[in-house]
Amino acid sequence: SALNVSRFLREHIRTVPDWPSTGVQFRDITPLLQDPQVFRVLADAFVHRYMAPGLRPDVVAGLDARGFIIGAVVAYALNVGFVPIRKKGKLPFTTVEETYELEYGNASVEIHTDAVTRGQRVLLIDDLVATGGTMLAGIKLLERLGAEVTECAAIVDLPELGGSGKVRASGHSLFTLVDFE
Ligand code: PRP
Ligand code: ADE
Repeated sequence: SALNVSRFLREHIRTVPDWPSTGVQFRDITPLLQDPQVFRVLADAFVHRYMAPGLRPDVVAGLDARGFIIGAVVAYALNVGFVPIRKKGKLPFTTVEETYELEYGNASVEIHTDAVTRGQRVLLIDDLVATGGTMLAGIKLLERLGAEVTECAAIVDLPELGGSGKVRASGHSLFTLVDFE
């Protein structure tokens, strides 16, 4: 069941206190990826959901850098393409850019202008939603190119940081597997 999958995955997420700075409880997903059986449960949780005819996207977009790992696997299993949304300065062709707020200062993400086409149904995926800045910037980029973000997905939600609420308040559907209060 979904609840059992959530409980199982939670047990394989490592919490590192005070990283990268004092007071942060870093939710480390590397143990989920390291164990092949756990990795398969993780990937299949997304694949099962997005195989359903109404939710199957035309393409998966993944957010730099941990969103690439899970996004590419899900895209492969769904037999759809994968497009990267990268931190500024990494993509070689023509791009559009969105700048968003971080705890300290700003960050920018970019996508190639030909990565999606108008009307394409896109699943936008990342490992974790904290303040939601990254996910919302990804949504904006895809929508500026005329794509339809049919759903956003992440392994982990940190609801206390407010990001998942912001994404949903923007009118987008967000699916996550594990919540950490
Ligand atoms: C982390 C995480 C998400 C983002 C979530 O990435 O992987 O992409 O932060 O935070 P937000 O909801 O407050 O935007 P990070 O910027 O650390 O980059 P990385 O994936 O390259 O480690
Ligand atoms: N990105 C932003 N906040 C994070 C956290 N607490 N753990 C892992 N990744 C994060």
